[in-house]
This record gives sequence, C-alpha cells and structure tokens, in this order.
Amino acid sequence: MTQHTQNMTVVVTGASGRTGSRVAVAAKAAGLTVRTASRADGFDWSDRSTWAPTLRGADAVYLVHPTDVGSPQATEEVGALAREAVGLGVRRLVLLSARGEEQALPTEEAVRASGADWTVVRAAWFMQNFSEGLLADGIRGAGELVFPGGEVREPFIDAQDIAEVVVAALTSGDRYVGREIEVSGPRLLTFGDAMAEVSRAAGRELPYRAVPARAFGEMLTEFGTPAEEAGFLVELFETLLDGRNAHLSDGVEQVLGRAPRDFADFVRESTGAWKA
Ligand SMILES: NC(=O)c1ccc[n+]([C@@H]2O[C@H](COP(=O)([O-])OP(=O)(O)OC[C@H]3O[C@@H](n4cnc5c(N)ncnc54)[C@H](OP(=O)(O)O)[C@@H]3O)[C@@H](O)[C@H]2O)c1
Repeated sequence: MTQHTQNMTVVVTGASGRTGSRVAVAAKAAGLTVRTASRADGFDWSDRSTWAPTLRGADAVYLVHPTDVGSPQATEEVGALAREAVGLGVRRLVLLSARGEEQALPTEEAVRASGADWTVVRAAWFMQNFSEGLLADGIRGAGELVFPGGEVREPFIDAQDIAEVVVAALTSGDRYVGREIEVSGPRLLTFGDAMAEVSRAAGRELPYRAVPARAFGEMLTEFGTPAEEAGFLVELFETLLDGRNAHLSDGVEQVLGRAPRDFADFVRESTGAWKA
C-alpha cells in the first residue's frame, strides 16, 4: 500500500453481488476502510437521495451497476453518480465494465467525463455466472444451463481475480489511473465445455442447451425481467456472443504478477452450488 492509499475509504457498490462482495473482502484485507453500498445498506441506484449520504467523506468508489453496464440506464445512473461523487470530493473511481462490449463504451465515457481519477476494469464472463445468480438458479432448478452461447468460446474469469485487480488498482497510487484493464481467465471454453466440467465436479449430468437469443429473452421476461431490459439483453447477446471475445487478455498477469485462476479451480471449490 502506498502512503496515498493509507486510510482510504472505498464505497463498494453491488457489495452483496458476485464481484462487490469479493472487492469488499479484498479491500479490507488490504487495509482499506470499506463502506458497503447495496440496498440493505440504504443505497439505491433508483433513489438519488441515497447517493450523497453514501458518498460523502469517501475517497474512492467501486462502481458496479446491477443492470448490464452497457444498458442506457447504467450509462445514465453511473454517469450521474460519478459526477455527484466528484462534486463531493471523491477522487478515485473504478468501474466494472465488460470486455468487447461496444454498448458499454458510453458508460465508460461517462465515468471519464466526470473528471475523477478513473480506472476501467473490462471483464470477460464470470465463472461465478455458473454458481451465483440467475443462470446458476436455472442450473440448480432445471438441471441444465439454457443460454444463447452457441458454440462460442469464452475465457471465463474468476470474480476473485477481478476483485484483486480492482483492489490493486486502488492501492497502487496513480499507476492505473486513466487506464482500461482487460481481464480474462487463462483458458477458452465453450459453454458446453464449461458445463461438462461443472457436471464432473457436481457428480451429476448438468448439460448445456443452446437456444437462440430471442428465445432466451422470452424466458427472461417470463421470469420477471422488464421487457425493455430483456430486449436490450437479446441484442447484446447477439453481438457479444458472436466470437469477438474468443481470445485471452493478460490484465490479471500484468496487475497481479500471476496467472489468472483456472475454471478447474473454480468448479472444485464450488460443488456446493450444484447440489440437487
Ligand atoms: N456477469 C458477467 O459475466 C459480467 C461480465 C462483465 C461485466 N459484468 C457487469 O457486472 C455488473 C454486475 O456485477 P455483479 O455480477 O458483480 O453484480 P451481481 O452479482 O449481479 O449483483 C448485483 C448487485 O447490485 C445490487 N443492487 C441491485 N439493485 C440495486 C439497486 N437498485 N440499488 C443498489 N444496489 C442494487 C445487489 O444488491 P442488493 O440486491 O442486495 O441491493 C447486488 O449487490 C453488470 O453491470 C454487468 O454488466 C458482468
């Protein structure tokens, strides 16, 4: 830790989620003061009166929007919160973005335009999509992964690695200010390959069933996703899952000086997530 980051208070949005929970733990372990900011903490993206009390007196914010980072809602709210943070004297912002997602560029730009000392961490698909959240609920409930990922290969990243990169960016002085860091796991896998590894670790057959993006969008609306958000996700998946991201990125190695965690390590430690 540099002199600069001693006594740093970081607001962690999405603190009960896949990356935020791990950022909070890693930041505490690094000696930072953590202010968690999800709805249980009184912070709500959709209620702007909760923003200033959350931000006041902090030095840094880990920004993770609950809708996809490329959604118009994320662009608007992340931009507004970034401006408010800077206005309240918060200098350092780290945004969680998505690798190879053109739709996310306006949200990234909104953070840059806030005048903060920014870092953007562009992540590949999380390994934890298979163990936590909506897709994981589907795997547990239906005994299969239904997803519009076709045969595309993706270098899934462990959310723990994302958290460690975020904290390293916060605690390395100016080193990562004004930079985009692209992070992926070490191995390209199709969604079918990934579910084969999940099945072996779980000790039961949990297949992958590829569906067209549109059919997936209809399933999302059935499960309560607002139609507008589901429509956005259909368009997103049609572009994001066309093979453009079938390559590795070396951000974890560059920032942490070690290889990213492998999908095999993740499944070994996550078997509890796939109990029948
Ligand atoms: N999944 C991927 O593979 C992937 C890859 C790259 C980038 N991303 C980006 O990652 C972001 C999601 O991050 P994540 O997966 O770490 O989060 P997550 O697991 O989806 O959790 C969402 C978090 O947001 C909080 N939240 C939900 N609604 C809220 C509200 N109205 N006000 C305040 N907090 C709220 C939730 O807490 P409460 O419900 O407790 O309030 C929770 O902590 C998205 O922007 C996505 O684009 C995802």
